[in-house]
Amino acid sequence: MNLLSDRIVNMSTSATLAMAAKARELRAEGKDIIGLSLGEPDFNTPDYIKDAAIQAIHDNYSSYTPVDGYVELKDAIINKFKRDNSLKYTHSQIVVSTGAKQSLANLAAVLINKGDEVILPCPYWVSYADLVKLNDGVPVEVPTTIATDFKMTPEQLEAAITPNTKMLWYSSPCNPSGSVYSKEELRALADVLQKHPNIIVVSDEIYEHINFSGEHSSMAEFEDMYERTVTVNGVSKAFAMTGWRIGYIGGPEKIARACNKMQGQITSGANSIAQRAVITALIEPPSRVQFMIDEFKIRRDLVLDLLNDIEGFKTNIPEGAFYVFPNVSYYFGKTLKGKTINNASDFSLFLLEEALVATVDGGAFGNPDCIRISYAASQDQIKEALTRIKIAVS
Ligand SMILES: Cc1ncc(COP(=O)(O)O)c(C=O)c1O
Repeated sequence: MNLLSDRIVNMSTSATLAMAAKARELRAEGKDIIGLSLGEPDFNTPDYIKDAAIQAIHDNYSSYTPVDGYVELKDAIINKFKRDNSLKYTHSQIVVSTGAKQSLANLAAVLINKGDEVILPCPYWVSYADLVKLNDGVPVEVPTTIATDFKMTPEQLEAAITPNTKMLWYSSPCNPSGSVYSKEELRALADVLQKHPNIIVVSDEIYEHINFSGEHSSMAEFEDMYERTVTVNGVSKAFAMTGWRIGYIGGPEKIARACNKMQGQITSGANSIAQRAVITALIEPPSRVQFMIDEFKIRRDLVLDLLNDIEGFKTNIPEGAFYVFPNVSYYFGKTLKGKTINNASDFSLFLLEEALVATVDGGAFGNPDCIRISYAASQDQIKEALTRIKIAVS
């Protein structure tokens, strides 16, 4: 009998975390690695949010919390959905979790039966495919390219649907492509789904506020999609709170109650102090974190500008999140500094070893022609990293 379950043996390691570990190893050897692989803001959590947490400690918020979150936090989430997304939810439709990642893990566990297909427009966030597989579901990858700004077209969605299709999962703004679906584009996808009323949509909106297009739209805004869309969000990205581990969903009551039941057996309620801090984060207007979004936009422009000057990097113009996802297939089959580049994984490793810059292989996001470059780093680090890349490939 094997020690480890097939479940864990067959699971891929998170590529972003694997790259971070490799970069750490090289740093320990004394190499000056610039990390552009991680998906977290390089800002500190704003003081007004930290103060709320400190107050919560003094106020003795030290007991177990309700499994699906403090009622005051649910109030703040309900108001946030109304204020920012014109979405109306009641308390029983909200579940607070230990990060949006747990929200997604709950959803996969409560919605997928063996053989159910989940449509994932590629590139998708690293964990989607493995969460689906972990629950005996089948990820159905729909490849997209720069030509459609890495967005799935209605025709592609239609073609991917089978009698076994259970769900559509996507993020907008998208990690890793930075693409943002407009209201019209979402409506066109919704029109296809109209013909398939049993398909559930999981709309991951964790990068909602890091959006330079001036427009954020939610699938659940459409009256005819509301009853079968789960909106996932959290505070990790826009509020620079990755370590606080709070995410949440708003969705159909039956699904929310199932997530509550699942969480009740696995982790119980999310961290009490973090929940109190998030009440403040969500009550305060998003304009309080606008300075970070402004800085991300400056960096996005900087990265695009510098990449434009390096041969063989083709990009879309990302409208949100903090990543650029260039197609680097120009280099496949070439030999650089004695190393043959066959795919994006080789190229990403080449950049780590020869330019001392950590990026992530796009294969982990379902697109093996690209690499992901995170610009959650200072302008100086970005300039230095792209200068090194340019020298390494020339
Ligand atoms: C698209 C997407 N969804 C969800 C998450 C998970 O966020 P959290 O830190 O809230 O678990 C991430 C984090 O990288 C993400 O990029």
